[in-house]
Amino acid sequence: MFSVFPPRHSLLVAALGLVLTRLSCSSLSVPDIPHIAVYFGTKTRYEEVNPHLLRDLTAVNTSVLRPPANERCTPVHLTAIIRHGSRFPTAKNIRRIHKLSELVRTESFRSSAGSGSSADRLQELQSRWEMWYTEDMDGQLVMKGREDLRQLAKRLYGLFPSLLSEENLSRISLKSSSKHRCVSSVEAFQEGLRDAWRGQEVQYNHQVDDELMRFFERCRGYVEGVENNRTALLEVEKFKHGQEMDAVRRRIAEKLGLPHQRLTPELVEAAFFLCSYELSIKSLHSPWCFLFDESDAKVLEYKSDLKQYWKRSHGHVISSMSSCPLFHHVFRTLDKAGRPRRSTDAAPEPASILVGHAETLLPLLSLLGLYRDKTPPTASNYQSQHGRSFRTSRIVPYAANILFVLYDCQRGPRLQMLINESPVRFPGLEKEDAPLYREVRATYRHLLDGCDFERECEGRIIGRGPNIEL
Ligand SMILES: *[C@@H]1O[C@H](CO)[C@@H](O)[C@H](O)[C@H]1NC(C)=O
Ligand SMILES: *[C@@H]1O[C@H](CO)[C@@H](O)[C@H](O)[C@H]1NC(C)=O
Ligand SMILES: *[C@@H]1O[C@H](CO)[C@@H](O)[C@H](O)[C@H]1NC(C)=O
Repeated sequence: MFSVFPPRHSLLVAALGLVLTRLSCSSLSVPDIPHIAVYFGTKTRYEEVNPHLLRDLTAVNTSVLRPPANERCTPVHLTAIIRHGSRFPTAKNIRRIHKLSELVRTESFRSSAGSGSSADRLQELQSRWEMWYTEDMDGQLVMKGREDLRQLAKRLYGLFPSLLSEENLSRISLKSSSKHRCVSSVEAFQEGLRDAWRGQEVQYNHQVDDELMRFFERCRGYVEGVENNRTALLEVEKFKHGQEMDAVRRRIAEKLGLPHQRLTPELVEAAFFLCSYELSIKSLHSPWCFLFDESDAKVLEYKSDLKQYWKRSHGHVISSMSSCPLFHHVFRTLDKAGRPRRSTDAAPEPASILVGHAETLLPLLSLLGLYRDKTPPTASNYQSQHGRSFRTSRIVPYAANILFVLYDCQRGPRLQMLINESPVRFPGLEKEDAPLYREVRATYRHLLDGCDFERECEGRIIGRGPNIEL
């Protein structure tokens, strides 16, 4: 059960064990959750998006499946694209956390740190909190992350008992990114299915496929034009040093009793992430959380949304186009599953489970035309962006998922999309939850006929200019 952890983490494992025991004893009461937990961007827990799971992780609500009631529909295929579960910070963030904790340990002065309760909390931080993150934890899945995927698998089984049945196991396709946290996640998903079947042993049968799940690092136009291009993320840099962030920095520095210039935007973010990590890894309300009130958290959430928008989403067309291989894979799979068959044909895949990253899901969602607000978020329009639909805390928390459900119905196959287990309608087909599959195909015709990875990702570079073939 503890096998995700390398042996040198045994102490940590023991500590987590204690935490978990304590939690399970008090599982009837909803634990103490920092009020800023819904603003953690890609570090948000899945439960913050679906709070009913805090009471019952196994709750399945079949009313989310919405084919027309009068067409006698049955689900025939499920494609699920799933982000890995909760994980440790990456080495880069662990180094920042280390720097922050050293700074606070050696340079914060209680006497100058605000008044009363603020000073007490700083004292708690300095005397009770210990730096326990080590660089070798680097982004690995934590126990809670394994649980995220196990429980998701069980709930999906509850929604689609015939598709995810034990008898169908050998025909369920399971693919994962090669990253450790994803492989551990796809294993946990299979364990969840076994639990649902009350089966005995799991024989893992997933495949690693980075062409599909890590397309972004193979797309040269993306890597050179966005990933390694400092000007591509200009809005993020500007916001980081803009007035909203600066005000947050000053407030936090004051609470910490630090000179404001010592607390860089990176260190402010490290403190915010610490609050998120202690919640998502240990289910703790960390003493670091007291530093942030709701308006601070919204500013920091906006900062990470800006980054995801300009790096992985609508900010640059190439970011979404880099997901063309995954887009085509999904539609090829759906085409096959929906095709009329003679009784002698082999039965199609009942389910396709694809485990990747936030960086896998966001470009695909963008390609599909979702979460595209009228005005792009920039460094200067924070005030007008409070109602934006592009909020990564809602879209890509840990264990985020996009589900495509294909139904066999009297008028032909229909397709429904769910994001994080809630129905979401296809842009342009907003009248129905589950439009006819052929209408969905017609909506995405331009992509089905184009969206060519070689051309989008390599073509631009060879030509060093705009694509003139269009
Ligand atoms: C199920 O979800 C629907 C909305 O999709 C909601 O109205 C209903 O109350 C939910 N039922 C339960 C038991 O949670
Ligand atoms: C870098 O990004 C900027 C802004 O998006 C763009 O104008 C420029 O062409 C990009 N540079 C490269 C080498 O792609
Ligand atoms: C297996 O999957 C198919 C769809 O491919 C479905 O019709 C069938 O009911 C599933 N269950 C079993 C037990 O085969």
